[in-house]
Amino acid sequence: MHVVIVGSGIAGLTAAIRASAVHDVTLVTKGALADSATAYAQGGVAVALGADDSAALHQADTHVAAAGSADARAVEVLCTDGPARVRDLLALGVPFDRSTDPSSLDRYGDDLARGREAAHGRWRVVHADGDATGAAIERTLIDALHRRHVTILERTCLTDLVVRDGAVVGVDVLDLLGEPRRIDADAVVIASGGAGHLYRETTNPLVATGDGVAAAWRAGAVVADLEFVQFHPTRLAVPDGGLVSEAVRGEGAVLRDARGRRFMTAVHPDAELAPRDVVARGIAAAVRDQGGAPVLLDATGLGADFLTGRFPGLTRATRAAGFDWTRQGVPVSPAAHYSMGGIATDAEGRTSLPGLLAIGEAACTGVHGANRLASNSLLEGLVFAVRAADAVAAPRPGLLRLRGDAGLHVTSVPRAADAISASRQTWPGGPDHRDPTTDVRQAVQTVMTERVGLLRDATGLASARRDLDALTAPATGGVREHEDRALLDLARLVALAAETRTESRGAHARTDHPDTDPAAPASYAWVAEPVAER
Ligand code: SIN
Repeated sequence: MHVVIVGSGIAGLTAAIRASAVHDVTLVTKGALADSATAYAQGGVAVALGADDSAALHQADTHVAAAGSADARAVEVLCTDGPARVRDLLALGVPFDRSTDPSSLDRYGDDLARGREAAHGRWRVVHADGDATGAAIERTLIDALHRRHVTILERTCLTDLVVRDGAVVGVDVLDLLGEPRRIDADAVVIASGGAGHLYRETTNPLVATGDGVAAAWRAGAVVADLEFVQFHPTRLAVPDGGLVSEAVRGEGAVLRDARGRRFMTAVHPDAELAPRDVVARGIAAAVRDQGGAPVLLDATGLGADFLTGRFPGLTRATRAAGFDWTRQGVPVSPAAHYSMGGIATDAEGRTSLPGLLAIGEAACTGVHGANRLASNSLLEGLVFAVRAADAVAAPRPGLLRLRGDAGLHVTSVPRAADAISASRQTWPGGPDHRDPTTDVRQAVQTVMTERVGLLRDATGLASARRDLDALTAPATGGVREHEDRALLDLARLVALAAETRTESRGAHARTDHPDTDPAAPASYAWVAEPVAER
């Protein structure tokens, strides 16, 4: 059978490598192969390898971080399949860092160095090249892919899924030359990542515009948990500043306000190592209290030798931004980082649409609940990619059954007319013209950042929805316009989901509903009202 995989991060590459052993595989990716959030990942892969660790302990930490909303079966799969998948990466040649401590051999007799990050009860984050884990994994997987028989289409942008008789039978793309093209498939696997560019500040690469999730939604797939957007607490607070890994706090760095005080100790017993959503909101509150000045990440206590050896990339990045972090704190602020929600799947990556699977950040397996545990995302990409690749040819299941006995709370939503428009409107001044007053992306980012961000309330969400509804998606046929259409589709859904969840839970914080409502569904899911097939 012919399998089309969309996306080339850890999930897409792993699925392509695995599926190519038995199927014809075409891998479609919007940029170059290495343009993915995976390549940006610093901290590492969380996996229960240590002699003091177990899948059960990893599951327990995942559930606590997820604010009790994670799907138990998905979490069990993640944590129990995890060690074998990381050993697959070792076998492929990922140069994971080794420990210098001979007493820290893991359960496999291996000496991988293991870091610590927020909300992990054990040292279990394996890393490579210090703080360039994702790049090392991406490079190794790309090398492995090149040794397989896979058709690789770079600079090819997914625009829509092709649906026939209720099943996904292919993809519409813009090819390398910007020409529309249809690729038939027996199965399509979406692995195109998240949508950090819904927000003005993000740790994500430029390609993270939610194309796959939006296309699946337009095709009629169930999407879920979209209100749960993770803001990473520490992005370097300079123009175009990147991620400053949580592993730095895991090693002992602390957060200080403008007066030099460790404010997180008053917020949570685990202080800087509290769950990510708690730290992000703690920083936002400190910034507000000091009139907007950023807080400082103080890593000076770790020592210059340790910092430059363990975090060489961050040492370079902070120096390039004008800071010597071995001697001074660096300004940090929260930024959009990860979508816990996405295309609803079972533990084999199967979606509500026959012929469509989803993996990685584009998928919502339920494994992250309302807040992802640090460094569980690379593991998720690996684990569920292998399961999806193995399930791709299996007979279709019946109605998707997710989230245990409660199932998903699915609501039908009308689509915006423009979301499926094929009209070829152009921008004033031509397709490349960017008028800031009409730029859809900028308008979406402003609304999402100001009213659907770290803190939300009913008034802001209602006005956000009105403003998003008033925007019109462009459909000029260019990649930028297709991305903008995806961002607008997703922004409307995230705002709707955030308005619907009248409680606070994990990453979704409502100032008008500060408590968690035990009666609220763990998961809200959405499906577009059907339209005629194309
Ligand atoms: C980090 O290194 O802090 C990011 C890791 C993650 O998002 O899981």
